[in-house]
Amino acid sequence: MKPVKVGICGLGTVGGGTFNVLKRNAEEIARRAGRGIEVAQIAQRRPNPKCDTGITPITDDVFAVVDNPEIDVVVELIGGYTVARELVMRAINNGKHVVTANKALIAVHGNEIFARAREKGVIVAFEASVAGGIPVIKAVREGLAANRINWVAGIINGTGNFILTEMREKGRTFEDVLKEAQALGYAEADPTFDVEGIDAAHKLTILASIAFGIPLQFDKAYTEGITTLTTADVGYAEALGYRIKHLGVARSTEKGIELRVHPTLIPADRLIANVNGVMNAVMVNGDAVGSTLFYGAGAGMEPTASSVVADLVDVVRAMTSDPENRVPHLAFQPDALSDHPVLPIEACESAYYLRIQAKDHPGVLAQVASVLSERGINIESIMQKEAEEHDGLIPMILLTHRVHEQHMNEAIKALESLEDVVGAVVRIRVEHLN
Ligand code: HSE
Repeated sequence: MKPVKVGICGLGTVGGGTFNVLKRNAEEIARRAGRGIEVAQIAQRRPNPKCDTGITPITDDVFAVVDNPEIDVVVELIGGYTVARELVMRAINNGKHVVTANKALIAVHGNEIFARAREKGVIVAFEASVAGGIPVIKAVREGLAANRINWVAGIINGTGNFILTEMREKGRTFEDVLKEAQALGYAEADPTFDVEGIDAAHKLTILASIAFGIPLQFDKAYTEGITTLTTADVGYAEALGYRIKHLGVARSTEKGIELRVHPTLIPADRLIANVNGVMNAVMVNGDAVGSTLFYGAGAGMEPTASSVVADLVDVVRAMTSDPENRVPHLAFQPDALSDHPVLPIEACESAYYLRIQAKDHPGVLAQVASVLSERGINIESIMQKEAEEHDGLIPMILLTHRVHEQHMNEAIKALESLEDVVGAVVRIRVEHLN
């Protein structure tokens, strides 16, 4: 049988890795797919020194690949939402299958892209868009299809996790580690996407859709970054038996779906709390299976290529099948998606870590406790440190039981207006993941 012809758009870190893996493992891949997979054209802005493209035709025009009648599958690896969206829609309109690693594109324009793909009977595969080399989309969409999914929680940005790990373990500065992550090709073109949680929110949006059968709703995700985390809070969390991770949490509740990315205290003895460096991990809790944990490299040249090539194999296997009987893009049949709402952050529920800077006066602890108890907030533990030498203020660290964010917002406002409390109260959400 003739090989399937693939066009790669973008020969950067992931594109170069995809080309190399397809070439190196060509025989093994053909044994799995049932046909060879041949790169028939590449669109690149500049050559990738880590990739020997040999006699493969090269162009600098991505649309030349999309319009090439020889190409069966377009691999979109240029990133971004604008040109990538045009490219993917044009590929679909031309009747080509698409494989993409572009989480921003899927999270923001996925509903429109999948609708058009269904009309045209083509596949859009996006395993590499979430958690790099970890086949978590396939696991949730297919392997956990028996379950009602209760929640998903993941470390899904390698750059952010790398920064937090290096800061905690080696005391390196934020900027220094970020530069290294950029040099290693982990960071987004705009690294604020990594450190402000936008990249993780893109991925969480996709995971929530396939876990709960809801349309993609990136605009409703709550996003908080890691740029304001202090080493003091990292240290206090450790002393209390927790690690701080930048976590994406999607939880199904009776009232709606929680969809939130923020720094999070996790008990230090949880496996996921020990996921370090650029590694990612996603916990998925289903009613039948209980808790599962998927772990692996969340970024990088060949780990991400591993997912792109697995999608290519899937596409090759399914391209001759009846489009109506393929695995749905978002795991659930498109006419069976639910309109269960995504909740605003104020309606989400979590436990909290609070750090209060207080004057060393008698009764201040009692005032803090009464502000919380008046609002029905149950304190789990309190740690009070010695007064700081430079300002004489006492850091008071509290862990609370689970409470609605709205109630916590009101409590923090009341705490900040106490005469003996100085400055803003630091609040970090806590998840026990059990
Ligand atoms: N910038 C992303 C990360 C790349 O650091 O996880 C993989 O999506």
